[in-house]
Amino acid sequence: MRPSAAPGSAAARSATQAFAGDIEYYLTLTPRQLPSHYLYDALGSALFEAICELPWYRITRAERALLASRGDDILAHVDPLRTLIELGPGSGEKLAALVEAGAGRLRGIPLTVHLVDVSASALDLAGRTLGAVNPSQPIEIVTHQATYETGLVQATAHRRSAGRTLVAFLGSNIGNFDPPGADAFLRHIRTALAIGDCLLIGTDLVKPEAELQLAYDDPLGVTAAFNRNLLVRINRELGADFDIASFRHRAVWNEAESRVEMHLVATRRHQVRIPDASLEMTLDEGETIWTESSYKYRPQAVVRILERAGFTLVEQWIHAEAGFALTLVEAT
Ligand SMILES: C[S@@+](CC[C@H](N)C(=O)[O-])C[C@H]1O[C@@H](n2cnc3c(N)ncnc32)[C@H](O)[C@@H]1O
Repeated sequence: MRPSAAPGSAAARSATQAFAGDIEYYLTLTPRQLPSHYLYDALGSALFEAICELPWYRITRAERALLASRGDDILAHVDPLRTLIELGPGSGEKLAALVEAGAGRLRGIPLTVHLVDVSASALDLAGRTLGAVNPSQPIEIVTHQATYETGLVQATAHRRSAGRTLVAFLGSNIGNFDPPGADAFLRHIRTALAIGDCLLIGTDLVKPEAELQLAYDDPLGVTAAFNRNLLVRINRELGADFDIASFRHRAVWNEAESRVEMHLVATRRHQVRIPDASLEMTLDEGETIWTESSYKYRPQAVVRILERAGFTLVEQWIHAEAGFALTLVEAT
């Protein structure tokens, strides 16, 4: 597996510069905001894994159960599968569940798995999870510490010429894109694939507000820590002086836009300096920094956006209790 950028290396310096540029740009927008992928440094990834264990965050268990029960059907449809690409694998446990469930379909023929994630620690964990799957199934693991867009280009450039490719985009990661962004990104995936290749996408569904509220603002405060850790990261990496105690986590269901928004709310008027992003700002009491949107879908809407992007529905499986859909489509 490829290691992440070494501290002090040219790659690490350019990642820090890009981070600083984004912080300066997004924090001066109205309303102030931050791109959600910056939530995932090593601590952010660990906190996300803790969120997945919470009783109120049900979608991880629901999707894993669907993959375990339908994995064989999924891999039967993409036979002969030779290249598997996961965008944002987190722990890699879901992909492992899929490969384990469909191991018979792979018949021990080598499979190349490309893992694309901005988080070095997630890639490390996912690589180890996949590496431990099934000794009789040879798996070559290639990691790409990159955004979805860049990593997908890198991964498809190196896909095996024989057999078919499956892109997995699980955990409702698509929900972090706004609707035009989701359309554009699904088209980008379609363009990267050949006819007959497939996309497996997991989407969280619209559900009662009280359930969404608990999933994004849990009574243990783990999601709050996940959100506030973004400020800890900016302090550490860009020399900022955010007073973490002066921000509270807020999750709100925006029904008109069909999304849960996460914000960090300043609890007092104060100044913040971020020297490495050349930024000084005054936050008013109650002012928010918008850190993440998680759009929720209806099952038919998922099919429509995939069809608009140039895919044809193979099958959709719904976990009714948790309100989660797993949709398999083919590039046609
Ligand atoms: C919500 S977690 C889901 C993880 C896993 N798919 C699951 O279902 O448990 C999102 C994952 O995608 C990664 N990620 C988030 N935004 C990303 C982006 N724009 N490009 C690449 N990776 C991203 C995060 O580091 C994290 O590992």
